[in-house]
Parts: sequence; C-alpha cells; structure tokens
Amino acid sequence: MMSSGASNFVHGVDLTFFIILGISVFFLVTITAAMIYFVIRYRRKKNPKASQIEGNNTLEIIWTVIPTILVLIMFYYGWIGYRPMRRVPADAIPVKAYGQMWSWSFEYSNGKKSAELVVPLNKPVKLDLISKDVNHSLYIPAFRIKEDVIPGRNNYMWFKALQEGEYDIFCSEYCGERHSYMLSKVRVIPEAEYLAWLEKSDIPANEPPGLTLMKQNACVTCHSLDGSKIVGPSFKGIYGEKVTVTTDSGEKEVTVDDEYIRRSIYEPGAEVVKGFNKGLMISYKDKLKDEDIKSITDYIKTLK
Ligand code: CUA
Repeated sequence: MMSSGASNFVHGVDLTFFIILGISVFFLVTITAAMIYFVIRYRRKKNPKASQIEGNNTLEIIWTVIPTILVLIMFYYGWIGYRPMRRVPADAIPVKAYGQMWSWSFEYSNGKKSAELVVPLNKPVKLDLISKDVNHSLYIPAFRIKEDVIPGRNNYMWFKALQEGEYDIFCSEYCGERHSYMLSKVRVIPEAEYLAWLEKSDIPANEPPGLTLMKQNACVTCHSLDGSKIVGPSFKGIYGEKVTVTTDSGEKEVTVDDEYIRRSIYEPGAEVVKGFNKGLMISYKDKLKDEDIKSITDYIKTLK
C-alpha cells in the first residue's frame, strides 16, 4: 500500500496517515489497558479509603515532553507530505478545471474541452481550479489530493500520475441538491496517446451544436432530455407548451418560445416553472451569446 501508488503524493500522504494511525492505536491500547488495570487494582473492596496524591515533577515532565515530540513527529511528516503539493514543477501541463453546479469540466491549453480529465502518464499536470458559481472541492482519492474550488479566488493543485487507468473525481464540498452527483473521472494514458487525444475532437461529428453547448455548460445535469424530472424541467417536448410560472408578482401562464428560453437563461429567477425551486440556477448572461442560445433553442425544438 505504501510502496507505490497512482500518483506521486500517495507515498507521503499514506506514510503520514499510518504514522498518525500507529501512534493513535498504540495509545488507545495502552490507555485502555492502564485504565482496566487501575479499575481492578484500586477497586473499592481493596482500597476503601481514597488517598490524595500531589505533585510529581518527573511524571509531569515525561507527559509533557513525550506528547510534544509525538505531535512534532506527526507535524513533520504532515509537512513534508504537504509541502510538495504546493510546489508546482515549472514544466507542469496546465489544465483549467471548472466546477459548477453540478459537474466538472476541463479545458486544455489548445482550447479542447472535456468532461473527463485526461492526462499523460508520468508527467506533472497543474489544475487551475475555477468555480463558476459556489464553493466546490476537487477530490481525487486515488491520487490523495483534494483542494477547494472557490469563486473569485483562483486555487490550484498538481500531481504526476504514475499508473495508467481511470480514477474517480468527486466534489467534496456540499454545493447543493445534486452535490453527490458531481462526479467525473481522470483517465491516465501514455503520453503519445494523450497527444493524439489532445489533437482530435471528442464531439461526435453529427452532434447538434445546441447539444454540445448544453453538455459543456452542464445544462443537462439539471434538465433531462428524456422527460425525467431532475432539478429543473425536462427539455423534452417543452417547446411550444404552455406552462404556469411563478414570478415576483404571482403566477401566470407563458408559452415556451424563443423569448422565454432566452429569458430563462439570462434571468433564471424571473419566471420559474411552477413546481420547481427558484435560485438553483445561475444566470448565463456572460457565458452564452445570442447565437449560442439560438443553437440551444433549435435543439430543444427537436426534442419532441
Ligand atoms: Cu460541487 Cu459539491
């Protein structure tokens, strides 16, 4: 468990963990044993009269110095395990990691975007952690790394993957209703394969542009395309329908047309379809242009 691992940080983190665990188990056993011994040895039947013991300099020094040393040992291993995590090698491959309710997405320096993080084996990779809305936390247990993703404050993390394979990515900061669905994967592949992957588009040739945009902007994590209810209304068959919406001034009926879709994307809280919660969706005013919204609307029209 300690000899190798999926990333360069596994050894340091596991070592710290086992040292702290070892010290804790040792004291758990020792203290429990001493307690049981004292309970029996000084039981009332044998010692009907309690005596007061006061002051023992030797003991006091021992129980101050030994725990201090132990705590410093834990600190030392924690520190040498943590320090390299904040020192990014100059040749690390930069990747932007975006967190948003409720999905992860990744953007590479050539502009390629993906929903899964794809990295080359044995090469340092730096993730710039960017939140589009609320606090998230990017966690890759197999790599032993976790870092907060905070809006307005750019954070980072780095790693070197040492084993090919697929590993889970979680969000470990409660970020709302579908926090536990905010999952992705990191796929570690040989460098040559990675370079080839980087150059080719993952988007299926016949995929409608509106669908691509909806995937990239995580629309589909809340709005299903097949009629099932998630956090927001499904897009299936919604175009042209009459729906009841809740506004600040009460309820009214609207027809889902180009204008309503546009308004819902720019001001998601203005007219919320009845039965759904307000405040879960952010405005995409700076993120989607008019022509993007047109592509999305065109795609929604086809979902009959
Ligand atoms: Cu994002 Cu929890």
